[in-house]
Amino acid sequence: MSLRINDIAPDFTAETTQGPISFHDWIGTGWAILFSHPKDFTPVCTTELGTMARLQPEFDRRGVKVIGLSVDPVDRHALWADDIAETQGARPGFPMIGDPALAVSKLYDMLPAAAGDSAEGRTAADNQTVRHVFVVGPDKKIKLMLAYPMTTGRNFDEILRVVDSLQLTAKFRVATPANWEHGGDVIIAGSVSNDEAKTIYPNGWASPKPYIRIVPQPGMVQA
Ligand code: BEZ
Repeated sequence: MSLRINDIAPDFTAETTQGPISFHDWIGTGWAILFSHPKDFTPVCTTELGTMARLQPEFDRRGVKVIGLSVDPVDRHALWADDIAETQGARPGFPMIGDPALAVSKLYDMLPAAAGDSAEGRTAADNQTVRHVFVVGPDKKIKLMLAYPMTTGRNFDEILRVVDSLQLTAKFRVATPANWEHGGDVIIAGSVSNDEAKTIYPNGWASPKPYIRIVPQPGMVQA
């Protein structure tokens, strides 16, 4: 099944390190991040899971639930968590999905149907395309999809930055420019007419071109 932004994130049931889940029920009414790994005890992924474990308070603060997936069974994930705690200084507090039958990996188009239905005998390189990040909104729709090569560790600060943008632009009719960070200027959405914009932004906006209308980030508490 191919997936695109704005598709409903496919629902599934799976074993996790914190017991069985039904994905949509587990998400509940908020935001979620699913990030995936090709195999346990792989070096780049070990650093990524430690980094996510350290950053979890930042995701909690934004109301984003985090769940990992790795193609091995959950009993191996528990052993891997010990290594992650030892080498990265942080133990994942979020659930890790076991995907030994490759079911979720195929459902999310991270592996082809031809991959079969067992992780047995498959190497990390065989599963190397299982290195995605999906951000799912409260409406259960996919808001962001990122795919990474096996040799490049993910930048979790960037994922937090995108969450900030997604949550801001879900609340206000704005878009965020390149390299935007929380507190930076934003762009009035194209769906807002100039007449509407005058009522929303009575102080006006900077406009280097008529189609670029820049205002301070809305919703900031004034000092
Ligand atoms: C890793 O180091 O995390 C990794 C190694 C091989 C394939 C995919 C990931």
